[in-house]
Amino acid sequence: MTKRIRKAVLPVAGLGTRFLPATKAVPKEMLTVVDRPIIQYVVDEARAAGIEHIVFVTGRNKHVIEDHFDIAYELEETLNTRGKEEALGLLEKFRPEAGTTSFTRQQAPLGLGHAVWCARDLIGNEPFAVLLPDMVMKSEPGCLAQMVQTYEAHGGNVISVEEVPWDQTHKYGVVVKGDTFADGSFPITGMVEKPAQGTAPSNLYINGRYILQPEIFDLLEKQEKGAGGEIQLTDAMLSLMQQQNFFGVEFKGDTYDCGSKAGFLMANIAFALENEELSEEIRPLLQKLLG
Ligand code: UTP
Repeated sequence: MTKRIRKAVLPVAGLGTRFLPATKAVPKEMLTVVDRPIIQYVVDEARAAGIEHIVFVTGRNKHVIEDHFDIAYELEETLNTRGKEEALGLLEKFRPEAGTTSFTRQQAPLGLGHAVWCARDLIGNEPFAVLLPDMVMKSEPGCLAQMVQTYEAHGGNVISVEEVPWDQTHKYGVVVKGDTFADGSFPITGMVEKPAQGTAPSNLYINGRYILQPEIFDLLEKQEKGAGGEIQLTDAMLSLMQQQNFFGVEFKGDTYDCGSKAGFLMANIAFALENEELSEEIRPLLQKLLG
């Protein structure tokens, strides 16, 4: 029997340097894709996968994320007085219930591994999900829900992967893949962070969604600084792989890396074109611009 995945960690303490100056005062997770901040898409994906409690690992200048998931009392009172029920309903729909979110500060951006470790007390001794909030996924069911199916079948640790062209593998964390099971998932026997051109063990890159067993925290605690002088999650996962099973699941859907300008713009276009009203308005401009 596998323990249910009830909690998720969303690390949001990064500096977002690729998006400066936009992210000088506004966290990158609060940049909007069409009509909602990036982070809202990821929280919705987690909740749709059955996550009951979300731990945000934040940093300085990130308090607006906390405000976004709280009641905006004055705004909501004003909307109420003015009879703006639709707007009020929207706010309610996207707000997690009181007591289902926690916020802890990373204090210093020492790396993704360190950010996840900061959530150890709030997660406790149970398996949990990690979702990188700048990776926005578009699929039904969501990426984490697809992973939960694999976790329920095989247990252990589960990583979501996607194909990239072989000549792009040097930009990503890439997995070593075992033989595929009947359900399409497969064992992962290794991973390499940004392999040199021509040396990648596969063209399957880790796309920012993980289900991990709590033993990862002890390993993160002992973890030395790795690539870039940061405490890397990949290094701790490689150590955990010596003791526990890891499984890969190929994500069926579209991923937008909203931490990069191109990915962010593509997400906006893709989500806007999916909205009937917006699509009608922007399509002629897109066609004109593309000549
Ligand atoms: P990124 O590598 O995208 O780093 O982190 P970043 O600082 O956010 O952005 P750039 O590269 O400077 O533009 C991947 C995820 O890990 C989180 C980030 O918030 C992001 O969600 N992270 C990274 C932390 O929470 N803490 C860290 O120390 C590093």
